[in-house]
Amino acid sequence: MKRMSLRGRSVLITGGAGFIGSNLAIALVRKGAKVTVLDNLTPHQGGSLFNLKPVEDKIEIDFSDIRDEASIKRLVRGKDYIFHLARQTDHILSITNPFTDIDVNVRGTAILLEAIRYVNPETRFIYTGTRGQYGKAVKLPVGEDAPTNPRGIYEITNLTAEKIIGIYNDVHGIKSICLRLTNVYGPRSQMKHDHYGVVNWFIRLAIEDKVIPVFGDGMLKRDFLYVDDAVGAIIACAACDNCYGEIINVGDPKPETFRKLVETIVSIAKSGSWELAPFTSERKAMEPGNFASDISKIRRLSGWNPKTPLRHGLSKTIDYYRKFRKHYW
Ligand SMILES: NC(=O)c1ccc[n+]([C@@H]2O[C@H](COP(=O)([O-])OP(=O)(O)OC[C@H]3O[C@@H](n4cnc5c(N)ncnc54)[C@H](O)[C@@H]3O)[C@@H](O)[C@H]2O)c1
Repeated sequence: MKRMSLRGRSVLITGGAGFIGSNLAIALVRKGAKVTVLDNLTPHQGGSLFNLKPVEDKIEIDFSDIRDEASIKRLVRGKDYIFHLARQTDHILSITNPFTDIDVNVRGTAILLEAIRYVNPETRFIYTGTRGQYGKAVKLPVGEDAPTNPRGIYEITNLTAEKIIGIYNDVHGIKSICLRLTNVYGPRSQMKHDHYGVVNWFIRLAIEDKVIPVFGDGMLKRDFLYVDDAVGAIIACAACDNCYGEIINVGDPKPETFRKLVETIVSIAKSGSWELAPFTSERKAMEPGNFASDISKIRRLSGWNPKTPLRHGLSKTIDYYRKFRKHYW
């Protein structure tokens, strides 16, 4: 397995002020990379300058829109690695108004790829898609060769962007990795609404001593992944030569029920409670059922493994938001 060091390397993170992007920026600075963040701080999404506070004097930040062709050409120049995380991420908005998703997630990705093709075709490109691209699981755990039948516009646009990246990889020789991330939780996610980031939203309700509504019978399963592990996977793949040209799942091998999740949150927080609630019609229509990622491919290719047990990750997340609540509420 050939591993590359990111020390001293120039990297661009689109969506780098958001939840996963900011945690990635902090981790890459710690690894000695020269980090530039692109983020237009879209309202009602996860972008926040507070997220980048620990590294604010060590990174460059650009507030351009991913669809601004001139700025993107300027920003991709000279970058050794480009991590593309800027997305319209609000799942509810994607159903009520599909055009922003199509514009940001599909056209935005194409603009970035075209800039790379013309200005910096030698760069390495890492894309974070979602397990939602699979839709309903045909069998569990879900491997990368499973059928993709997404159940929402957000998921369709992520899959479409992934297909476009495949063309740039195969036809134009742009070295790319397409990751499919499971549900990620942890510090630095937005906490203002429940349109995405369900685990973090449940944590907010528990901290506020409110009732957490668990849809259905609470027995739906998901593999919840702590953000440090997600970031570890992104970096492990980026540094691994044989991950390029591949679609790779990023998840946790131990799925849990939503019931177990909320019981654990309430017991750690020592506040809040939970109750079963009927699905809203929008949620029901988009709900793909039980999900668990098969992560044998990423283990084989990169040697990565998640390290954080659910209880430990939830505990760290609760501590973080109790400490920095005023920046997220
Ligand atoms: N959080 C999860 O559970 C999860 C799961 C699977 C996949 N992902 C993927 O990870 C990536 C990051 O998600 P996140 O949870 O950190 O979301 P987030 O909302 O916290 O971050 C997205 C960032 O993109 C920025 N952005 C949006 N539109 C932009 C534009 N037009 N130009 C420039 N910047 C723009 C936003 O300001 C925000 O900071 C996304 O690609 C998402 O699909 C996340």
